[in-house]
Amino acid sequence: MTPTTEAAPISDGNVRWGILATGGIARVFARDLSMHGHRIVAVGSRSLENARGFAAEFDVPSAHGTYQDLVADPEVDAIYVATPHTFHATNARAALEHGKHVLVEKAFTINAGEARRVVELASERGLIVLEAMWTRFLPHMAFVRRAIAEGRIGEVRSLHAEHGQRLPTDPAHRLNAPELGGGALLDLGVYPLSFAHDLLGPPTEVMATGTLGPTGVDLSVATILRHAGDRISTTYSSMESLSRNTAQVLGSEGRIEIGSVWYAPARVAVYDADDRLVDAFERPVSGRGMQYQATEVERLIGAGETVSPLLTPDDSVAVMATMDQVRAALGVRYPGE
Ligand SMILES: NC(=O)c1ccc[n+]([C@@H]2O[C@H](COP(=O)([O-])OP(=O)(O)OC[C@H]3O[C@@H](n4cnc5c(N)ncnc54)[C@H](OP(=O)(O)O)[C@@H]3O)[C@@H](O)[C@H]2O)c1
Repeated sequence: MTPTTEAAPISDGNVRWGILATGGIARVFARDLSMHGHRIVAVGSRSLENARGFAAEFDVPSAHGTYQDLVADPEVDAIYVATPHTFHATNARAALEHGKHVLVEKAFTINAGEARRVVELASERGLIVLEAMWTRFLPHMAFVRRAIAEGRIGEVRSLHAEHGQRLPTDPAHRLNAPELGGGALLDLGVYPLSFAHDLLGPPTEVMATGTLGPTGVDLSVATILRHAGDRISTTYSSMESLSRNTAQVLGSEGRIEIGSVWYAPARVAVYDADDRLVDAFERPVSGRGMQYQATEVERLIGAGETVSPLLTPDDSVAVMATMDQVRAALGVRYPGE
């Protein structure tokens, strides 16, 4: 079977991006955007030296030594927030208060209350707030949604997805720091949970168990969710062990398998009820694939719209609400909650 392929989107550079923070994912985002014609006009860091280094590396004209200076920069249309989780709400609000559209790294905030307040502010200001759950915008996910909508696997009954990585154990690392929203759930578990929301809608029942590390953050999390129509999703996420990171959607007339790594550009296979391969999707994606979410922000700005049908602000709030319930089952709270 010949895999389906599509052309990679190249931006016309009409939207002027500002990048807030200069850490690991900010660099990946900047590289992917630079490769695909998007225009980055400014970067902000807590350190002017870091901002200048980042600006030199990615050929960005303006470097700011505070986040406040970045969000106030009149040359910027949209801000990408790439700080640790506990700062997302503050950083997103600052951008919105200065009239900027905002793309906020996952997890959107640390809890649903924070998420709601960010979404309300964006709505009041008529601005875009989009969670950078990049998987939702990838071409293979469009194929999966289409295959389901066309009834290729009949009635969807369940899905399973996992996200396991072996991440740093250093207690000072942000992933192990409760005050930075560390733990497997907000960094890794958010992917399969957002996937379950995407395909099955918000859950009507949430069950979860997990293990905690010495600093009190969750190291592994297993969830069972019930969704409308008696459908079930299961997820497993861990920062202690590398998994194959695959996903599957089971239906009454077949199944969809998303290969390793399912949340990044991946191969999708559709099987019928007799286990015969009936369709497949695979496309080479240049870079890591983070450019697709930026393309969606640019499409919305161009169309004068604020809500992406691929990931609505309400859905980001709903995912946070599910994760609040998961954390309650695990007994995990962040300082100040
Ligand atoms: N989409 C993906 O594939 C992906 C992958 C990894 C992470 N993420 C998400 O991206 C966000 C950042 O993760 P990351 O891995 O890039 O983190 P990181 O490498 O630690 O970078 C975080 C950046 O945030 C800024 N920051 C502000 N206050 C900070 C504080 N108190 N401690 C540490 N850094 C602080 C720093 O930038 P300045 O020094 O310039 O101010 C720092 O470089 C998280 O929400 C994470 O879940 C997404």
